[in-house]
Amino acid sequence: MDIVLATRNKKKIEEIKRIIVDLPITILSLEDYPDCPEVVEDKDTFEGNAVKKAVEVCRCTGKPALADDSGLEVDALGGAPGVYSARYAPDASGGNDPKNYEKLLLDLKHAPDEQRGARFVCCLALAFPDGGFKTFFGYAPGRIGREPRGKRGFGYDPVFIPKGHGPTFAEMTAEEKDRLSHRGKAIEKLSEFLRSSVVYKQN
Ligand code: IMP
Repeated sequence: MDIVLATRNKKKIEEIKRIIVDLPITILSLEDYPDCPEVVEDKDTFEGNAVKKAVEVCRCTGKPALADDSGLEVDALGGAPGVYSARYAPDASGGNDPKNYEKLLLDLKHAPDEQRGARFVCCLALAFPDGGFKTFFGYAPGRIGREPRGKRGFGYDPVFIPKGHGPTFAEMTAEEKDRLSHRGKAIEKLSEFLRSSVVYKQN
């Protein structure tokens, strides 16, 4: 079965391909469909944005489409930056810009350890040409450190310390991050669905 990944974020594409590798699925990307228009993420929930992206890319390509919407929810900020994680710092050039986590560290400057709780959230949406779709959620609980550490990963990884661990996501190997991450957990649920689903067996 072919699935088109409805994202142009190369880091996300790498992560999803790496985790989904054990399934007989061909992952295509939007690079294979240059005429598909950019989908505007204007919903106020991860689910709303993921479903919108998957449905629009499925409509444009005629193939099952998988979209990811993800972000960081920080307790002391009432769940912000949430769906606005990629654009938290007003002058950030995108989700991988260090300006986002630098603003976060500044906003939490006076927050004591017990108020630095946070979680990454990932919603995956898989849309089918018949109009149907399924969603899969994954969560990674943890806390925000006091300074950036590590060079791997992307986005807020240098300041996120997963629960029960000392290193940040950016100090972990890709495999360690995949085991703990919101995206890894959501992809695991997606994989279970694909393994058992009728759609998968029929193709
Ligand atoms: P979107 O899902 O493309 O709207 O972007 C979500 C944003 O949340 C990313 O651009 C990153 O800033 C952040 N984010 C999502 N997942 C991760 C992750 O695994 N590590 C670090 N930052 C992440």
